[in-house]
Amino acid sequence: MDSPLKGEDIAYFVDNSSPLYISRQRFRDSYNTYTQHPNNVMKLFLDTAIVSDIEDRLPTGLIAGVTTNPTLIKKSEREPWEVYTDIVELGIEDLSIEVNGQDSKELVRNAMTAHGNYGNVATIKLPCTIEGIKACKYLSTIGIRVNMTLVFSESQAILCALANATYISPFIGRMDDNSLSGLSLIRSICTLYRTQQIKTQVLAASVRDVQSVGKAFEYGADICTIPPKVFDSMVSHVLTDQGLEQFNRDFLA
Ligand code: E4P
Repeated sequence: MDSPLKGEDIAYFVDNSSPLYISRQRFRDSYNTYTQHPNNVMKLFLDTAIVSDIEDRLPTGLIAGVTTNPTLIKKSEREPWEVYTDIVELGIEDLSIEVNGQDSKELVRNAMTAHGNYGNVATIKLPCTIEGIKACKYLSTIGIRVNMTLVFSESQAILCALANATYISPFIGRMDDNSLSGLSLIRSICTLYRTQQIKTQVLAASVRDVQSVGKAFEYGADICTIPPKVFDSMVSHVLTDQGLEQFNRDFLA
């Protein structure tokens, strides 16, 4: 599938000295001024280590990042570094890379290696344990983005916020699998963060259906990371299909 147009490709087709271009550019600039609230917009990440799944959906222009985990990497049947390199080469700007380690020192060491290899594209994914939180505090201090994963409670969310995590990933589906309400947790963490004016962003993870995406954003999640098939399902509606079929028939009539 074609890759999306980059800035330079667009400029090639445009006469940027024309009055129409200039007035449109002014409109775009003022529009951007009013719409860019980096901590307050809905973002979609793809939750996959299958590079073609990302490549196929990039032309929508709607994919703001990618998350991976060791299980997703294993499913891809490839070496982790190969997967990460391919994803970075696609132009993804925010890629969660999970590191492991027995203690915070080992986590930090592995995080530094990942960051050294993939630069600022790499968001380091750390487990929500005390060692993970110590590593998070250190990495955040030196300006490396951290995504605290396997979050299942408000108290964990508090500690992650105090450790200045960039993102926390509460796992909706896995809570539901265990007869707990994943979406209620999203709601309470978002309320807590808003009340306390916390900058850590809530990245709803383990999302298994489109309804959860809508509810997670409604409850205040900043980002939802979703499997490709959930992304595809978001646009589908039986009434859209029926309506379009009718409209297409009437076009031809
Ligand atoms: C993403 O960051 C998580 O690792 C992922 O969403 C977990 O999803 P699962 O519970 O469906 O494995």
